[in-house]
Amino acid sequence: MRFSTSVVAVLTSALAINGVLAIPQVKNPVPQNILEPVQFRVAFAGAEAGKSAAVSWNTYGELSGAPTLRYGLDPDNLSKSASGESNTYATSTTWNHHVVLEGLEPGTVYYYRVEGADVSKTFHFKTALAPGTNKEFTFAAAIDLGVMGEYGLSTWVGEGAEGPLKPGEKNTIDSLLDDFDEYEFLLHPGDIAYSDYWLKEEIQGYLPNTTLEEGIYVYEALLNTYYQQMEGLTAYKQYMVSPGNHEANCNNGGTSDKKNNITYTADMCFEGQTNFTGLRNHFRMPAEESGGVGPMWYSFDYGLVHFVSINTETDFEDAPSSTGMRSGEFGYPGQQLDWLRADLANVDREKTPWVVVSGHRPWYIDAKKKNVCKDCQNAFEDILVDGNVDLVIMGHVHLYERNHPVAHGKVDPNGLNNPSAPWYIVNGAAGHYDGIDFAAGLDEEWIAYTMDGHYGWSSFTVHNCSHLTHEFVFSENNTRLDRQTLFKDRKCKLPIDGGSSVSISPSTSSIPGVESGSGFNGTVTKTESDKKSSVVGTATVSKPKPADETKTVIKPETSTVTETDCEKCHSETNGSLLESAAETAQTEKEQSKAATVVETVHETAVASTKPIVSISSLSPVATAPIASVGPSSVASASESESAAVFQPSTGSAGSTPALANVATLARISPMVMGVALVAVPAFAMQFV
Ligand SMILES: *[C@@H]1O[C@H](CO)[C@@H](O)[C@H](O)[C@H]1NC(C)=O
Ligand SMILES: *[C@@H]1O[C@H](CO)[C@@H](O)[C@H](O)[C@H]1NC(C)=O
Ligand SMILES: *[C@@H]1O[C@H](CO)[C@@H](O)[C@H](O)[C@H]1NC(C)=O
Ligand SMILES: *[C@@H]1O[C@H](CO)[C@@H](O)[C@H](O)[C@H]1NC(C)=O
Ligand SMILES: *[C@@H]1O[C@H](CO)[C@@H](O)[C@H](O)[C@H]1NC(C)=O
Ligand SMILES: *[C@@H]1O[C@H](CO)[C@@H](O)[C@H](O)[C@H]1NC(C)=O
Ligand SMILES: *[C@@H]1O[C@H](CO)[C@@H](O)[C@H](O)[C@H]1NC(C)=O
Ligand SMILES: *[C@@H]1O[C@H](CO)[C@@H](O)[C@H](O)[C@H]1NC(C)=O
Ligand SMILES: [Fe+2]
Repeated sequence: MRFSTSVVAVLTSALAINGVLAIPQVKNPVPQNILEPVQFRVAFAGAEAGKSAAVSWNTYGELSGAPTLRYGLDPDNLSKSASGESNTYATSTTWNHHVVLEGLEPGTVYYYRVEGADVSKTFHFKTALAPGTNKEFTFAAAIDLGVMGEYGLSTWVGEGAEGPLKPGEKNTIDSLLDDFDEYEFLLHPGDIAYSDYWLKEEIQGYLPNTTLEEGIYVYEALLNTYYQQMEGLTAYKQYMVSPGNHEANCNNGGTSDKKNNITYTADMCFEGQTNFTGLRNHFRMPAEESGGVGPMWYSFDYGLVHFVSINTETDFEDAPSSTGMRSGEFGYPGQQLDWLRADLANVDREKTPWVVVSGHRPWYIDAKKKNVCKDCQNAFEDILVDGNVDLVIMGHVHLYERNHPVAHGKVDPNGLNNPSAPWYIVNGAAGHYDGIDFAAGLDEEWIAYTMDGHYGWSSFTVHNCSHLTHEFVFSENNTRLDRQTLFKDRKCKLPIDGGSSVSISPSTSSIPGVESGSGFNGTVTKTESDKKSSVVGTATVSKPKPADETKTVIKPETSTVTETDCEKCHSETNGSLLESAAETAQTEKEQSKAATVVETVHETAVASTKPIVSISSLSPVATAPIASVGPSSVASASESESAAVFQPSTGSAGSTPALANVATLARISPMVMGVALVAVPAFAMQFV
């Protein structure tokens, strides 16, 4: 509660004078009609997969009544309606609205729009596959994804950072949109928007300097810009998030202005900018339904998979965002871990044989010590191993790293060929203002492949009960630069669901061997050489480690046939080949022999119905009256310690723009600007 009355006065007057417009020079995607619904996002909901859905959106003004959706199977006859709740918080410039739709059919497309809003703003989503549906599907994961374009990742990155976009280079949001038909939903385990970089961006001259009070609007403008940039995806596909360190507070726990010898701590953050407040208000994850605490930890099912989202930031011993970040705890001591144990123990592996865990901070990662979360490992690893988790998806370090299945530092001798240890994929390479990271060059046995210096995201295809394929998608050209299949020796009793439900994004386009957009078709004869993984660009590749002579270990790199030659980057996976490999206890020598894999790929019709991002005019919402402007809770912010305490450069809590400078925003390449145009055409002309 660091919120002085004078700050409240400043906020209130700024809102009164400028309406909802943000501070000078930092544009906010505010529609002319402040009750225009924006930032649409859908999420899974309900205790039983496929029967409920959460739809959320924002407005810049307060609604007079409960947020209400019309929805149904026929876009021209949205015959049902449901209402939900709204919330805001101190320092927010918007209201969040959440409506849960119930009584839905699994695997079915529903159309929806906000009651009273422009009919052309009708969106659609597909409900989850019911648990136990034996049907192939693909999901995406993008981690450490921030604002793209003029406030975030562009042809400029932070001081000392690497990997600015090349002029015209496609970024990850555009890449995800380009592959819209290739996946059903998106996981984003942490570091969402990077609005807490506002101060760093000002100090580094990327954004114009403001006062700390005005910084509230910069912070909010970054958040709102990001959510709007994502709407072209999240209005149609479930967007499942987890907490990352950049959601914790307003400046990532501390920002140094070296030139002026000032270190800002988390104490500078205003109420509403600490303790994951933005994240917790903005999203509705199925936490209540799964016994978790939303959106901090929760689980849900989809087809053959039980998904679990963990919180690597707070709520375990020495959790990294608990100390110095003014965050947490969200449960009683040990609650998250108790819940995780129970959740994993209760999985019905007949119905959902796959268990996939996502969380933000990794512990198996080729990175500097401070980015290796040992405390997370201490808290979670035993539970994940005991719970027979198949796959763990993490980020935080801004590169792509595929590890071998590993438990307690010991590489699973089976590799990807029916391991018992969890398989770890770290992919924090989605992109944000501070660019990309490079691997530290650790010599650890569990590192299978590292690709740094490339922006990208992950695509996971769950083929059936026994096969799951991961692909690294290079954002610049949507090429799959790395692809492996995890095999689990499971006898699946579930009938194969060949039925084609109404699909807005058929997952069939992602069968192994079909390279995205290549129109590739036919028979591939591949000679597997000793080239197990390729060097791409400036990427570094971790070569398979030499065998440990004393152990009879089947090295993962050679015991599977799933390593990829990325010249074509089609899969060499062949189920029966894998299974026979599993049966035969081969020696290392035998396995490293060249093998020829012949794979037949069937042509698949891809019925794309990629939605055109709505370009509806911002017509007034007929039924809803204009409400008060600005967060109502601001008025209730309590008087507390003087703001001057944490405003070393402003001296007083006044509104003098002490850090004013003439920095401009004219550093945006046309292509980068195109992001905003693709994602938010409705607002492109409305930026003020
Ligand atoms: C709209 O759907 C409802 C419920 O399915 C139905 O009763 C009604 O007749 C439909 N209206 C039109 C115009 O099709
Ligand atoms: C204001 O911005 C400039 C860059 O334009 C920067 O050099 C300066 O340090 C900033 N001032 C403060 C107090 O952050
Ligand atoms: C920076 O500030 C600290 C205290 O805030 C002070 O001890 C130190 O001498 C300063 N360094 C310089 C180079 O001014
Ligand atoms: C953060 O929020 C949780 C849940 O409301 C609360 O229990 C906790 O005390 C808060 N932590 C801080 C540091 O304010
Ligand atoms: C995409 O970029 C990678 C890395 O530069 C390159 O190897 C690959 O051939 C490219 N793919 C296409 C289709 O251009
Ligand atoms: C794919 O194969 C079908 C027949 O199997 C053929 O008609 C079609 O032209 C092929 N497409 C390409 C892109 O080679
Ligand atoms: C599972 O999927 C893989 C990859 O598509 C395939 O090779 C394998 O034959 C399938 N297994 C079963 C039992 O359908
Ligand atoms: C897998 O390989 C075996 C023999 O190596 C072959 O008989 C079978 O047809 C292949 N299956 C697929 C799906 O390519
Ligand atoms: Fe992070």
